[in-house]
Amino acid sequence: MFSESFLTELADRNDIVDVVSEYVSLGKRSGANYFGLCPFHNEKTPSFSVSPEKQIYYCFGCGKGGGVINFMMEIEQLSYPEAIERLAKRAGIPVPEQENDAQSRRRARLYEVNKAAALYFHEQLNTPGGAGAREYINKRQISRKMATSFGLGYAPDSYSAFEQAMLAQGYTSSELASADLIRPGSKGGTYATFRNRLMFPVIDVRGNVTGFSGRIIGDGEPKYLNTKDTPVFSKGRLLFGLNLARKSKRDYIILVEGNVDVVSLHQAGFDSAVASLGTSLTKEQAQLISRYKKEVVLAYDNDGAGLKASQRAIDILEKLDVKVKVLRWEGAKDPDEYIKTRGGDAFQNLIDRSESQIDYRLMNIKKKYDLTVPEQKVDFLHEATKLIATFPGSVERQVYAVRVAEQAGIMADAVSKEVEQQRKRLLSGARREAERNSRPVNTAQPQERSLRYENLPSATAEEGVIRLLYLEPSLYQEAEASLTRDDFTSETLGHIYSILLERIRANRPVNTTVLSEALTGPEMNLLVSILNKPENLSNAKNTLKDYIKTMKDQQELSQITPDLRSLADQLKNSGKGYRS
Ligand code: UTP
Ligand code: MN
Repeated sequence: MFSESFLTELADRNDIVDVVSEYVSLGKRSGANYFGLCPFHNEKTPSFSVSPEKQIYYCFGCGKGGGVINFMMEIEQLSYPEAIERLAKRAGIPVPEQENDAQSRRRARLYEVNKAAALYFHEQLNTPGGAGAREYINKRQISRKMATSFGLGYAPDSYSAFEQAMLAQGYTSSELASADLIRPGSKGGTYATFRNRLMFPVIDVRGNVTGFSGRIIGDGEPKYLNTKDTPVFSKGRLLFGLNLARKSKRDYIILVEGNVDVVSLHQAGFDSAVASLGTSLTKEQAQLISRYKKEVVLAYDNDGAGLKASQRAIDILEKLDVKVKVLRWEGAKDPDEYIKTRGGDAFQNLIDRSESQIDYRLMNIKKKYDLTVPEQKVDFLHEATKLIATFPGSVERQVYAVRVAEQAGIMADAVSKEVEQQRKRLLSGARREAERNSRPVNTAQPQERSLRYENLPSATAEEGVIRLLYLEPSLYQEAEASLTRDDFTSETLGHIYSILLERIRANRPVNTTVLSEALTGPEMNLLVSILNKPENLSNAKNTLKDYIKTMKDQQELSQITPDLRSLADQLKNSGKGYRS
């Protein structure tokens, strides 16, 4: 977390037009924007725009957009803090080491408490009380070296020993409780959250111990106990093992279900394995992965639940342009068991032979046609080239065009040409659509499918409210007087609205740089596309009123419609007229 003042200075000193110009040759200004060839997809005519006023970029072709930090992340493939560092260096301003507001001090203290706890648990492994845990580690064939690099530990079988030890080190009970390391007992007093468990510290990418996952030693329920949500721990935002995996030389992340799978894979040399802490992969986790690697090998458990979770993970990851390969094997329930029975070479073999999602889809297309029948061959080529045309990389398109040509037994050149034709059609279609969307009367769905609007007329007005507030913050009192977050039919837009209001109310600056702290990547993308639609500011107050009215009208409509429907149903059922 960076301080407000630092981010504002960073934005001031890194004008987006200057920064983008270092990578893209921007033509003369046309209207409010500069245009150039998009660096994020292949194109021959410029659809990449940069707005000096709004300090944002947006590509009408591929839909990528954001503020200067997003641009830096995207073009240099950097993580958020890395992009900040780069921009700070560019502007010659130092990156603040430590924030000084109370909240960040509290967070820092929680990291300290957790780290001290991790050390304590780790040391317990070497005490007589830790004998059972040591034995269990041996039984699971976890090496000493792995136990150390993951910082595994043992939580003693005692209600009070842990707290006593921590108090002696100067931590307070209230700090321990906010880290969920102790919990209040029913008869007053407190007890240790983790007792007689094998402890897996969950460490974030900056090396902070954020919380724990404690496995029961042997059988019993619950098998794993996890830290509850605290200011520094939230299951859906962390990945077990990513602190180590991010440094791996492999260019893909291996995603598994269990903590033990992670340890076991690392031990066998697969040091890019991570697990999602017992939740199915979340958007946040996928984003985290995509900051470090652009490819994921999915190795979820070999059962129904694992398959389902895989499908969900594929969808989430592919939306973020992360390539996904799926491992399939037989005779073992999870990667840990597979490695232990077949060994690391066999696992590597699985990875090498695993199907990419692309191969998988092309194979499915091919299966539909009999390529010895000329008509079917044509249809196959048509469908296959249409798919290939959607791949962003030209090399990738070339490779797959050649493969399809071989399958169909025709010249590679012909297929390539067809692919590029299709691609042109696709892009000009996308551009037309983007332009259509930028007309004010027209409505549009966000590119990101998970953010799709259910009530388009209302959502369009909601977008308008956000755009006006961003461009004309002085309107916030009018908006606040009639709209709360719950008036928004789109949860994401409601979220953006509440963040905007909160900031404006507190007299804090509103720009994409400071907002990038509070919004996820897709949310930022959405905001930028909203800001890109034209808005008439000459009578902003009235425009805002119109938007609010549309939202309220839609609310009424949506309340009325179900009633009307049930009325119609009743009439139908009672057989009294009402023919349609
Ligand atoms: P598994 O039951 O597959 O655990 O749950 P595992 O890590 O493979 O453990 P072993 O090999 O049986 O010892 C997968 C993950 O789901 C979470 C844990 O993060 C676990 O690693 N989980 C599981 C829970 O959070 N709570 C539970 O009760 C069980
Ligand atoms: Mn498992």
